Amino acid sequence: TTMTTLQRQRLVVTRTLPQASQARLEKGFEGIDIVQWREDRAIPRAELLNMAKGADGILCLLTDKIDAEVLDAAGPQLKVVSTMSVGYDHVNVPDLEARKVALGITPGVLTEATADTTVLLVLAAARRLREGVDAVIKGQWGTWSPTWLLGSQLTDKTVGIVGLGRIGVAVAKRLQAFGVRKFLYQGTRRKEETEKGITGAIVEFSEMDRLLRESDVICICCALNDKTKNMFDYDAFSKMKETVVFVNTARGGIVDQSGLIRALKENRLGSVGLDVTVPEPLPSDSELLSFPNCIVLPHIGSGTLETRTAMSEIAIENVLCGMKGERLPFPHNA
Ligand code: DGY
Repeated sequence: TTMTTLQRQRLVVTRTLPQASQARLEKGFEGIDIVQWREDRAIPRAELLNMAKGADGILCLLTDKIDAEVLDAAGPQLKVVSTMSVGYDHVNVPDLEARKVALGITPGVLTEATADTTVLLVLAAARRLREGVDAVIKGQWGTWSPTWLLGSQLTDKTVGIVGLGRIGVAVAKRLQAFGVRKFLYQGTRRKEETEKGITGAIVEFSEMDRLLRESDVICICCALNDKTKNMFDYDAFSKMKETVVFVNTARGGIVDQSGLIRALKENRLGSVGLDVTVPEPLPSDSELLSFPNCIVLPHIGSGTLETRTAMSEIAIENVLCGMKGERLPFPHNA
């Protein structure tokens, strides 16, 4: 008889996962040694480079920059990087491709939670939630007033969606229930089939300029890449309506933040809701936090227990398949 000795594999996990997935990791997987950064803060770079050594698979988060340095620290046996996120702007894809390392992401499962957060920010910004809450806390709630803290509503309005992908569509479907009259959308191409799925409102593929000028509400729902980086700069904000409700739940880098701050200072924007900033975390003394009409959340778009658990489960499936040399269930380029 021949004895086959299977070489044990090494799986590097860069954070503690949601409970159900963490429990799975702790039960272990046959033939796999798991090394994990267990603190609830991003793994320091030096630690990542060290831990990556000899890895066959890396399960990472959007807080880990994955580039040639990490891949080379891991070594040529590395087969897969699986990020527990749908966005992968923190991963240098050409560096992975050059080394034939697969990349897995978690699409689909966070669409609803992220669209919910987008609607939350649209309404919170439009109805001046921050100012209202602050007034109550500071004892500035006077008598009911016909004119105090008036916001705007979605009925009969035009909403611009930048990026009509899974999340953009889910946002549009939610907002149409609020009586939106027209959606203008931007993206790499027109999506006629997708348009038909949004009933009860006009849906038009639009030039950016028109979207900026005509929209009462603008939601960013696209990926961060070379084309979208700093796409919303001072010039773009200057074209928007003075009453615009501007919401970004995608990536902070899509907005040129100094341009946004300038526009806010000059009172050019109605209200702003952000779930993403540059950097993250945003320092608490950031000027961005000084505007009462700007609400900032700490990147919690996908932050429900259900969604985060689904994301970590997919991230585990991706990494296990990749380590076996199988096709990933959710590759970045599906
Ligand atoms: C992602 O998945 O890219 C989000 O930013 C976090 O859920």
